Amino acid sequence: MSAVLEAPKAFQLSAATPAPVPVKGLHHFAWRCRDAEETRAFYEDLLGLPLVHIIRADNVPSTGENCPYVHLFFRFTDGSHIAFFDLGDDTVSEPSPNTPAWVNHIAFEVGSEAELLAAKARLEAAGVQVLGVTDHHFVHSIYFFDPNGIRLELTRRLDPPEYMAQKEASAHAEMAAWVKEKAARRAARAAQGQAGQSGQPERAGA
Ligand SMILES: [Fe+2]
Repeated sequence: MSAVLEAPKAFQLSAATPAPVPVKGLHHFAWRCRDAEETRAFYEDLLGLPLVHIIRADNVPSTGENCPYVHLFFRFTDGSHIAFFDLGDDTVSEPSPNTPAWVNHIAFEVGSEAELLAAKARLEAAGVQVLGVTDHHFVHSIYFFDPNGIRLELTRRLDPPEYMAQKEASAHAEMAAWVKEKAARRAARAAQGQAGQSGQPERAGA
């Protein structure tokens, strides 16, 4: 299966499609961890997120698969969580081989610039390499990796009202421009494939 999507998936939406329900926000994001205690030390002792829930099971409830694990949850101050599975094998989830390391990440919000700087100082004092503060106009962010290779971002909102309103107003036009640009790139790839036709399908990432 090619990793390159040549024809975007079209969803079947019509007036008869049931309306979307309100999705409130993050309940938890879950990832594999290499070691539950190493992960607890990072999230609870260093980042200050309390460990609030442990599920120890041998069978996966959703699939029935036998795979002894511990599932651990750390709570944010807004009641949402980040969660992990330790499968007991000391194996870290491998990073995506076809995605730059800065792409896949999860961002957590802090309350102020002072807190962002204090978090950076604490992480660095503990030996964690931190990138930033980076100015994204609507947020200021720092970046670092957890022991499981997850790229984390701590961010604080600036949300300048005029800028936010202008970006919201232009979001669909900006999206349409990207769709157009991407279609041109796709067509160029197809033309290139035809020009150098060797009977081989174009390879993902080649
Ligand atoms: Fe981000």
